[in-house]
Amino acid sequence: MTTSLDHFWMPFTANRQFKAAPRMISRASGNFYYTPEGREVLDGTAGLWCVNAGHCREPIVRAVQEQIASLDFAPTFQMGHPLAFEAAEAICRITPEGMKRVFFTNSGSESADTSLKIALAYHRARGDGARRVLIGRERGYHGTNFGGVAVGGIPMNRKLYGGFLASVDHMRSTHDLARNAFTRGQPEYGADFLDELETRILPLHDPSNVAAIIVEPMAGSTGVLVPPKGYLQRLRSICDKHGILLIFDEVITGFGRLGTPFAADFFGVKPDMINVAKAMNNAAVPMGAVIVRDEIYNTVIHASAEGTIEFFHGYTYSGHPLGCAATIATQKLFAEEALFQRAASLAPYLEDAVHQLRGTRHVIDIRNLGFVAGIELEPRPGAPGRRAYEALVRCFEAGSLIRVTGDIIALSPPFTFEKAHVDRLIDTIRRALEAIE
Ligand SMILES: Cc1ncc(COP(=O)(O)O)c(C=O)c1O
Repeated sequence: MTTSLDHFWMPFTANRQFKAAPRMISRASGNFYYTPEGREVLDGTAGLWCVNAGHCREPIVRAVQEQIASLDFAPTFQMGHPLAFEAAEAICRITPEGMKRVFFTNSGSESADTSLKIALAYHRARGDGARRVLIGRERGYHGTNFGGVAVGGIPMNRKLYGGFLASVDHMRSTHDLARNAFTRGQPEYGADFLDELETRILPLHDPSNVAAIIVEPMAGSTGVLVPPKGYLQRLRSICDKHGILLIFDEVITGFGRLGTPFAADFFGVKPDMINVAKAMNNAAVPMGAVIVRDEIYNTVIHASAEGTIEFFHGYTYSGHPLGCAATIATQKLFAEEALFQRAASLAPYLEDAVHQLRGTRHVIDIRNLGFVAGIELEPRPGAPGRRAYEALVRCFEAGSLIRVTGDIIALSPPFTFEKAHVDRLIDTIRRALEAIE
């Protein structure tokens, strides 16, 4: 008897199409996935931007196995277990100075909503409760919960649910093919898009009503949008000028993707909160976190009477023992194997390799930063996303996993890749693009 495919409603998937011709993965090791038939598939996307240390790493596997046998679950509401504190401490070894408080969630989506709530709670605790406007950006992705969708800027994600949260606005996207196509690293043009924030959006709401601005320092899910030079620095200074909190959604960039612990380090811009998930524990157990500036924590904590709960928010699984055990083991592995440095040293190789696709059929832009690359294809008239989807299928059949979003291919390999893996990945993509209409 074979398993029915009928019952699992697959997320972000064309269910009917998939179930008619499934692409299954049943095992993983190092830089590879394996199909149920035993076919090897090079993982060009570290799962979903999350398995940064490579698959099924022994120290993480062992930590989780040992943990489930000794403490499977313990509440963190008015109770504690040592691993949750240890995991938070492990993360704070690499967080920016003055950002040493950690609120645990179970996903990037929950981190988004948690950070927005912390922003509102913080202003209220300061006696500035009028600050309730939250500003995101077009093409931003902050997961799929109501808060994250509201500040997010991907039209199909917002179509049915985006308008539920009042007091939200959006800056325009930094994507500018006309001025920046085929840039290596950060594009030259686009910091000027912030003029609109200063001259239209903030005056419209009045800056004194704005609680927070949330952006991905480098937007991944919407197709690898690299911030223009000076953009994040200018955004930080606008926030400072008006007392607005700046939240970096680093669910993709956190834990080494750009070759530094956080994108905040890469760009030299310190936000007030950093949202993480994914690679925090190498995606071994669902888990996320909001890393908070100490002063924000102190303000919220001291605003209510001793003995009362200061922040009415949390999840049953905040600081789950398995997630914490995996986090501690992952952070140790990152340090012991210097994996962030490895990502940094592989980045120029990926950059050179991916830009060699310039001139390949259908390619209208190539972008890269850190150990990430994006390849934008000309959409097929009347069938957006189709061409990239066909590239995904061909690459999978040829033994490489890529990620596509619209007509953009996104690459984000595990940091354990060798140069030969990069070559193989790019070669597979080239062949796929040459073969599709
Ligand atoms: C920047 C960003 N924020 C939030 C999320 C949502 O994370 P999750 O799918 O774990 O809820 C993602 C997922 O890709 C992301 O890239």
